[in-house]
Amino acid sequence: MKLDSTVPPPASRLRNFGVNLWAEFSSLANEHKATNIGQGFPDFVVPEFLQEEVRKAVAKPAANWYTRAQGHPRLVKELATEFSPLFNRNINPMTEVMTAVGAYEAIYAAITAFINEGDEAVIIEPHFDCYAGDMELSGGKLVRVPLRPTGDEKFAKNWKLDKEEFEAAFSERTKLLITTTPHNPVGKMFTREELEYIGSVCKKHNVIILSDEVYERVVFDENEHVRIGGLPDMWERTLTVGSAGKTFSVTGWKIGWALGPANLISQLQHVSSCSTFTAPTLLQEAVAGAFEYERGVAQTDESYFKWLSAQLQKNCQMLADAFSDIGCTPVWPDGGYFMLVDTATMGWDFTDLKTGRCYDVDCVKWLTREFKLATIPISVFYGDKNRHLAAKYIRVCFAKSDGTIEKACQIIRSFKKK
Ligand SMILES: Cc1ncc(COP(=O)(O)O)c(C=O)c1O
Repeated sequence: MKLDSTVPPPASRLRNFGVNLWAEFSSLANEHKATNIGQGFPDFVVPEFLQEEVRKAVAKPAANWYTRAQGHPRLVKELATEFSPLFNRNINPMTEVMTAVGAYEAIYAAITAFINEGDEAVIIEPHFDCYAGDMELSGGKLVRVPLRPTGDEKFAKNWKLDKEEFEAAFSERTKLLITTTPHNPVGKMFTREELEYIGSVCKKHNVIILSDEVYERVVFDENEHVRIGGLPDMWERTLTVGSAGKTFSVTGWKIGWALGPANLISQLQHVSSCSTFTAPTLLQEAVAGAFEYERGVAQTDESYFKWLSAQLQKNCQMLADAFSDIGCTPVWPDGGYFMLVDTATMGWDFTDLKTGRCYDVDCVKWLTREFKLATIPISVFYGDKNRHLAAKYIRVCFAKSDGTIEKACQIIRSFKKK
């Protein structure tokens, strides 16, 4: 398209922005009316208790007005009550909690608040894409360290950091370490020992930790969700990000939060106060009610969090079985929404892997077009240097309704026949 020369060009910080990954793959899925197990949004019906919280909220006049910019008072109090025992400390709701328009905004605020032009953030690769865009907007640079499969690569827990490589990534320019557990897209949950190690390196280099824990409520088997901000000496340097969208399977609500020490949280609030000012009051009120409800049923069969982990593990098993049946190899996750699947056996030529050419993008487009099954390529979660590590994997999301999972399994089993 020819640009109108009378209009000034966009800011140079946007120079590397093109079509957004999610927009591209979502529109492809829609165009082909594909069964979507790509993007991480649950498509099941909102449970009755959440619907009830919205009805109760909308009936309260003040829940329809602007609320406190740093976070709706009822929600920040709920979050402090919910997370204080999980971090083994008394979290101050007014100074150590900020609510945001989804985890996205909390991440944007954290990066904008601490990254100057030329600063670096070490990040564990593959990684969710938004950190890269936020760093670019701040003029910072991501230094990527890949998780490397060790031993049996069919288990996410065997994807590990190489300590030498990890430590070499830190320099005097490093301001942040960005980590995600449960991991998107690998499905790994970092163990206490791994997080203690990561924390000790961050402490040595005096680096702030941005810990994205949006999938914290989806935990399989005996795995434990360990919060790095709850480890000894770590609260002071850690910002922990969460999402009501992922916690209660209502991604369209876009309510998120950041927890951390007051001196860090107050900086995020500066960014938020001049971008969104406040997240929607109505939904903050409803999320507060949802946490209160869940706490009341936590140890019972009514617990939403218990149901969610069990349901998603069942879905994950169904998809893993379907892929295994056709000779693909799933990478079994510890928790979260996603599973990697090695598609090298699907008849595609992967002999070029070492050149960095990524077949996964073609593979995903082909599956969407020919089989009406939408997934996500993994190479888009990598920088250029390590992209070749990913080319044989696709990402599937199992946070889907029974109907979507059954349809997806049927389609996967039909791959063989084509
Ligand atoms: C790792 C990770 N962090 C953050 C987000 C964004 O969360 P929210 O929808 O609450 O903005 C996502 C969404 O997919 C994600 O996968």
